[in-house]
Amino acid sequence: MIMNPKSIHRTTCQMSLLGSDGQTMSNAQRIEPSKVREGLRSKIVGYPILYFRKLPSTNDVAKELALQGINEGAVVVAETQTKGRGRLERKWISPEGGLWLSIVFRPKTTPKYAPMLTLLSSVAVAKTISKEFRLRTEIKWPNDVLVNMKKISGILTESRTTGEIVDFIVVGIGVNANFDIDALPAHLKYSSTTLKEELGREIEREILLRRLLELTESYYKFFQEGQFGHILGDWRGLACFLGSRVEVEGDREKIEGQAVDIDADGALVLTLRDGTTRRVLSGDLRILGRAELR
Ligand code: BTN
Repeated sequence: MIMNPKSIHRTTCQMSLLGSDGQTMSNAQRIEPSKVREGLRSKIVGYPILYFRKLPSTNDVAKELALQGINEGAVVVAETQTKGRGRLERKWISPEGGLWLSIVFRPKTTPKYAPMLTLLSSVAVAKTISKEFRLRTEIKWPNDVLVNMKKISGILTESRTTGEIVDFIVVGIGVNANFDIDALPAHLKYSSTTLKEELGREIEREILLRRLLELTESYYKFFQEGQFGHILGDWRGLACFLGSRVEVEGDREKIEGQAVDIDADGALVLTLRDGTTRRVLSGDLRILGRAELR
């Protein structure tokens, strides 16, 4: 079913009177879209911002809207997601207080360069968090943003292509913002963190969102100008695992080696024990030993 943006808006406004746990969320705690737009300096990203109390997944709605022809830069944001999705078909737990959003891009490029959108988005997230909250952020391949070696943000990119044409790319970003770590299940608690945990206070998600949209647009401009080296350079500067001994668990195999680089495809370049080089396109990375010097 193709949804009309207006009907989605009406439906979710009705269904969103209660929070995910049945508790009402006070107005003061909600994201106020007009506060995000106030002083928003981007020209493309953030127009429009479609706000929902509750959605299955912002990526699903953004993809649906992209199929209907919504313009590049449109943003879908929800207070909570009931079917949030992560990489490798995992569930993404999305409690109220987080920042869950998806951005529609229509880059004039071939599918080969689509992974750059994920790379530039993870740089934008990492830099927004470090600038706004003076927290040291790092990136763990493929696109986890970490604070104190714990995951604070993840990115899920989905696209539609027709032959060599990219119809659209939806970049879904989840930032663990204003919730207690106990809101996450036990298996995620020890490897994750939230801005609230790190700062000892709640943050204004409107400001975080505004700055994130602005910085994402700045990096998107580098992409449009073909300045891939700039994006990759900043990404490498944030990559905590480069030079380290790592293990990558993919669908079919586990590979151990030294992480030496990532390339423009977003592939991880490993040097294996026998000295050969391997490119890995997807999987989970575990750092076995940190690099001594970076
Ligand atoms: C990951 O690290 O596995 C990626 C997580 C991506 C989560 C975000 S939250 C907003 C958007 N909607 C989704 O269903 N997923 C992404």
